[in-house]
Amino acid sequence: MDLFEYQAKELFVKHGVPSSEGRVTDTAEDARAIAEEIGKPVMIKSQVKVGGRGKAGGVKYAATPDDAFTHAQNILGLDIKGHITKKILVAEAKDIAEEYYISFLLDRSNRTYLAMCSVEGGMEIEEVAVKSPDRLAKIAVDAVKGVDLAFARSIAEQGHLPAEVLDAAAVTIQKLWEVFVKEDATLVEVNPLVRTPNDEILALDGKVTLDANAEFRHPDHAEFADIDATDPLELKAKENDLNYVKLDGEVGIIGNGAGLVMSTLDVVAYAGENHGGVKPANFLDIGGGASAAVMAAGLDVILGDSQVKSVFVNVFGGITACDAVANGIVGALNTLGAEANKPLVVRLDGNKVEEGRKILADFNHPLVTLAQTMDEGADKAAELAAAK
Ligand SMILES: Nc1ncnc2c1ncn2[C@@H]1O[C@H](COP(=O)(O)OP(=O)(O)OP(=O)(O)O)[C@@H](O)[C@H]1O
Ligand SMILES: [Mg+2]
Repeated sequence: MDLFEYQAKELFVKHGVPSSEGRVTDTAEDARAIAEEIGKPVMIKSQVKVGGRGKAGGVKYAATPDDAFTHAQNILGLDIKGHITKKILVAEAKDIAEEYYISFLLDRSNRTYLAMCSVEGGMEIEEVAVKSPDRLAKIAVDAVKGVDLAFARSIAEQGHLPAEVLDAAAVTIQKLWEVFVKEDATLVEVNPLVRTPNDEILALDGKVTLDANAEFRHPDHAEFADIDATDPLELKAKENDLNYVKLDGEVGIIGNGAGLVMSTLDVVAYAGENHGGVKPANFLDIGGGASAAVMAAGLDVILGDSQVKSVFVNVFGGITACDAVANGIVGALNTLGAEANKPLVVRLDGNKVEEGRKILADFNHPLVTLAQTMDEGADKAAELAAAK
């Protein structure tokens, strides 16, 4: 999960990373009040999850509370690369002597963590990386050893930060590493990391990505979820603990096990080529326990997608045998009643396949078609989607 700058800075405060005082709001009046409270010039900063806010006019200096009001009015609603500004951060404007760059990230290809640091921070870091890569230090971080003060200082030194600020930079950088580890982040990036005229080192911007796989360790991270921006179907799936990803297609997919679901997507996309190019509408893994409740929740999510024209249920019975899955489908269709209004192709195989097929055959629901094989089921589901 990517965080807004103001959320990243909440984590910075929690771990003692020096930053600038500020508060988030969604009205210009409030921006004026916050500026008055801070009692110093402030920056009004668009809170959108996309880079280049400054260049797009989303970051403005306000000398007075009235200026804060005016800039807030202009920035609220501002479209930055397709992201509409709904919130702004009002933060104390700091005097800046120099702007640096620091980040910690997961380096998947080298199976390690990586620190990146440069004396040439600010809004053009991407250019620095391309034009003068030697100015951007890339330093592997041993996951077990981590980053202590001495190593943090060495990171700053390799990034060519001036000698006078290495000690102060080390403190800030070490705390950013703490944010990275303790909050289970996959990215902590600060651009700019600034040097003030009295040689303080502050994080004036913050980009943090949290590892969704570690959510269970951080119940407090739930408040960071951007409910407004989340697809309502994905939200519903999440509430039901379903592994669901919406895709741009017409054939709804339900399967058990991520591998089977992924190959089902491929087979449906392939079959769809013979039926006017229909495509899979989603990934949905109902996992091991395909109970009626789970099946109903899954079907409910998929049928709620107005793009979906047909559904392909592809289940391989294992510990949860095919008869249980079939009963799950029967229960789900009974529960959903008239809400189930799209054709369903079901392919069952594996443990107790005959019993499962018999249950569905006896149920004899007008919307359900049984398929013998995965290819046959994919083809039928694609055909039904194309016919609608
Ligand atoms: N609190 C602050 N005080 C003084 N100057 C600031 C402050 N926050 C930001 N700035 C100035 O504004 C510039 C742009 O701000 P910031 O880095 O937050 O946005 P951005 O880099 O344009 O956006 P993004 O990081 O999303 O690409 C900074 O490089 C810095 O010069
Ligand atoms: Mg920035």
